[in-house]
Amino acid sequence: MSLQDLLEVVPSGSEDQALLRAIDFARLPRHVAVIMDGNGRWAKLRHKPRVEGHRAGIASVRDVVETSARLGLQVLTLYAFSVENWKRPQSEVTTLMGLLKRYLRSELDTLLRNNIRFRVIGRMEELPADVQDELRRGMERTADRSGLLFNIALNYGGRTEITDAVRRLAADVAAGRREAGAIDEDTLSSCLYTAGLPDPDLLIRTSGEMRVSNFLLWQIAYAEIWVTDVLWPDFRRKHLLQAVADYQKRERRYGGIAK
Ligand code: IPE
Ligand code: IPE
Ligand code: MG
Repeated sequence: MSLQDLLEVVPSGSEDQALLRAIDFARLPRHVAVIMDGNGRWAKLRHKPRVEGHRAGIASVRDVVETSARLGLQVLTLYAFSVENWKRPQSEVTTLMGLLKRYLRSELDTLLRNNIRFRVIGRMEELPADVQDELRRGMERTADRSGLLFNIALNYGGRTEITDAVRRLAADVAAGRREAGAIDEDTLSSCLYTAGLPDPDLLIRTSGEMRVSNFLLWQIAYAEIWVTDVLWPDFRRKHLLQAVADYQKRERRYGGIAK
């Protein structure tokens, strides 16, 4: 995938095309993570029930997944449901799970066609059985794809993830399989859901909220953060391209000094 792949689908003379030309394809973020927020507010503005916002947000997911694949990103991680989201009304949770199932069913062929590998991060085993079946099917069918890795964070919590990793390491130490003093940052990273993946270079949050809401806490240590007031159901390719273009203007110092 490359500039050519994207130009194919971007109308000539459009804003998207100008944005694309501003992007340096040699310096793309390897991993983009997105906190998809603002569905409820989007619906409220239209005097509709909150779930209509979730429904409308599916078009944004489609657009962002396809654009990421065409851009040639290695990894895209979308935050779809947090461990804290169970606090919401039962009816909203049920609708979200149903939408997820439907999305996977209708999108599987497109994912395959675009060479996208689909994976879930989070405590998948606590999701409803029918949703788990659909997710597993999506993962199995796309397992051999070599393009974009599309992670969906479901029943995901950053603290939960780190706690699970620490438990595993503690059990290893207790059983004599590992030495406590030999545990380092790489060891912990290798026990997270994202083991083996590059950390997010770019973290996007929609709807203007300036917080990370328990998302990829360990992995975003040095991510560049890009917040937009755009509500998730209004988020499209051009916003992703803007975020990438802005990301490329940042100076990443990692605690050092400017070169
Ligand atoms: C994000 O939109 C979707 C999920 C968290 C599942 P919200 O539902 O949080 O929308 P707001 O923040 O209430 O507007
Ligand atoms: C973060 O959004 C979770 C997801 C996008 C899935 P929330 O809407 O749940 O976060 P808070 O409650 O505003 O922090
Ligand atoms: Mg929200």
